[in-house]
Amino acid sequence: MSKDIAFSHMVVEVSDLDKSEKFYRDVIGLDLLGHNMVADNRPNALLAMNTRQRLLLVEVPKVPPYPASGGSIHHGWLLTIDQFAQARDRLEAAGYASGIDPRQTFRAVGEYNMDIIDPDGNRFQIQAFGEEATDILPSGAGVVSCGNIADHAVGDVVRNGKGRFFLSRNEDGYLAISAWCTHKNGVTVWQKESWHFYCPFHGAKYDCTGTYFGRMGCAPMRLHPVDIDEAGNISVDTNRFFARSKHDPAHVVPAKPGAKFSTAGLELVKAAVPATTSSEG
Ligand code: FES
Repeated sequence: MSKDIAFSHMVVEVSDLDKSEKFYRDVIGLDLLGHNMVADNRPNALLAMNTRQRLLLVEVPKVPPYPASGGSIHHGWLLTIDQFAQARDRLEAAGYASGIDPRQTFRAVGEYNMDIIDPDGNRFQIQAFGEEATDILPSGAGVVSCGNIADHAVGDVVRNGKGRFFLSRNEDGYLAISAWCTHKNGVTVWQKESWHFYCPFHGAKYDCTGTYFGRMGCAPMRLHPVDIDEAGNISVDTNRFFARSKHDPAHVVPAKPGAKFSTAGLELVKAAVPATTSSEG
């Protein structure tokens, strides 16, 4: 789609035009363009966002109540992190409580959110993503011992919570897959029944090799190096992350003594904070 084609405007039904106009102008910060500017015989007000989009408020005798079961029915605004801070200050000054995010504990790292309810009960989600949403986040667990090759069967996926990775044993060998979602640093889970990794933050799914499948176009989950010593003991280096554009079987470490991780074709990515050096898993 051309970048000149964009969402144009939205219409919100309100029961008291003056009251709602004040809310959207003084609390949300939109600019009033005028009254009764559109071909609608009901009282209306047109407001502008700081992009090219418009918000049209139309006064109606009765606004349908917000559905009691409709927790997901809402409008969303995406701001820059600076705009988000300004909006939060303005909302707090207007009497809204701080920390207005009912799902705060479920947010990905670097994802910020406020839920604002307008005078008629319409819910607006105001969102921003900080740089940390795409940072590479080491666990601090260092090099983690993961048992012996005799301990795992083909098909096993073992989560290491401290190291924030999964050790996946497929028929070719081992992959150590970083648990951080490549979309926005949500923490993925392994769903054994469905044979895939799932990120509960925005719904990304990755197969057992860490390859994304779906419509968001996420990169594959990152890899940590796996090392197998001559006695068959496995270790995973959580200090190093390798990004990849697609799964390559060459990066699977064979399940045999002395096997090493190949970095060929992989990009070592820089972690956000210094990692520790060693640890037991
Ligand atoms: S953080 Fe968005 S889907 Fe994982």
